[in-house]
Amino acid sequence: MKFNASFRKGFASDNWSGVSPEVMMALQQINQGHHPAYGENDPLLEQAQQLFNVVFGPESHTFFVYNGTGANVLSVQQLLRSWEAVVTPHSAHLNEDEAGAPEKFTGGKLLTVHVENGKIRPEDVSPFLNSIGFQHHVQPRLISISQATELGTLYTTEEIRTLAEFAHANGMYLHMDGARLANAAVAMNCSFRELTTDLGVDVLSFGGTKNGLMFGEAVVFLNKALAEGFAYNRKQGMQLASKMRFITAQFIAYLENDLWKRNASNANNMAALLAKKLSTLSGIKLSRPVEANGVFVILPAALIPKLQQEYFFHVWDESTNEVRLMCSFDTTTDDVEGFVWAARQLL
Ligand SMILES: Cc1ncc(COP(=O)(O)O)c(C=O)c1O
Repeated sequence: MKFNASFRKGFASDNWSGVSPEVMMALQQINQGHHPAYGENDPLLEQAQQLFNVVFGPESHTFFVYNGTGANVLSVQQLLRSWEAVVTPHSAHLNEDEAGAPEKFTGGKLLTVHVENGKIRPEDVSPFLNSIGFQHHVQPRLISISQATELGTLYTTEEIRTLAEFAHANGMYLHMDGARLANAAVAMNCSFRELTTDLGVDVLSFGGTKNGLMFGEAVVFLNKALAEGFAYNRKQGMQLASKMRFITAQFIAYLENDLWKRNASNANNMAALLAKKLSTLSGIKLSRPVEANGVFVILPAALIPKLQQEYFFHVWDESTNEVRLMCSFDTTTDDVEGFVWAARQLL
């Protein structure tokens, strides 16, 4: 077999990279013989769920799904009635990159806020509280944050705790989109539990694809009571994998032996190096704090298409020539140096 599709490694996104060798090995190992479908009476599912209970605490309940959009939409759907709403930053994946799926599948509404560096604060949510009890308005029910954010920034533990307390004090829940939670945990030197359960997060979309898995995410209810009926919700939402073992085996490989940590550390370190080297070039300006594995820079307009031909990346904001450079578990110092060299030559 010959595949005619080879791309030069670039900085487009952390899901342009392939699969960690350890994860590929797990997939191969589990690809033997037959195995129960849908995770039913499946010891492997039990093993994975137990591992998640160790990581997030015994009161958590985990369900595996195919992708991050599915994890987000189903999390929201589980907690929202059609007259209720999610308050979230405008830049949230939930709002900008899910093609209206949250609205379609929940019937609810997204109330978005334009916030600095992708981070929402209680005072951004407060104005929506005036609607509570007013029958003409949607009822705010959920706050959704991303950790790390879509803009490469991080909420501090105190900021998350404050948001959770604020949500609960006002009859709301806190959802976290953790597509890049591993990058956040490594950067903050925290465990997953210290960033979620211990701070009062109610439900988490836990990512794997952006940090070395082939596919697979998890919905983790940190408050078990909220998980009731979720199995049916997942099936209706078309996210129940029949060959479940190929998701659970990946997560076991990911969480055992700290593969997640090694992968995320590399991605974060490469982002820091890239930011450091780019900031020495005149004409290139870092546009946001580099706190995880994303680097945002303003480039001269003429440079963008030329540099994209060498190493592909996405333009984040056409109006300001801001571009996003994402580092992956497999980004190397050679990749970073090659990119910076190319930028220098083209400038
Ligand atoms: C913050 C965030 N959440 C969720 C997702 C999930 O995406 P997907 O449905 O492509 O797995 C992504 C992917 O780009 C993301 O960046």
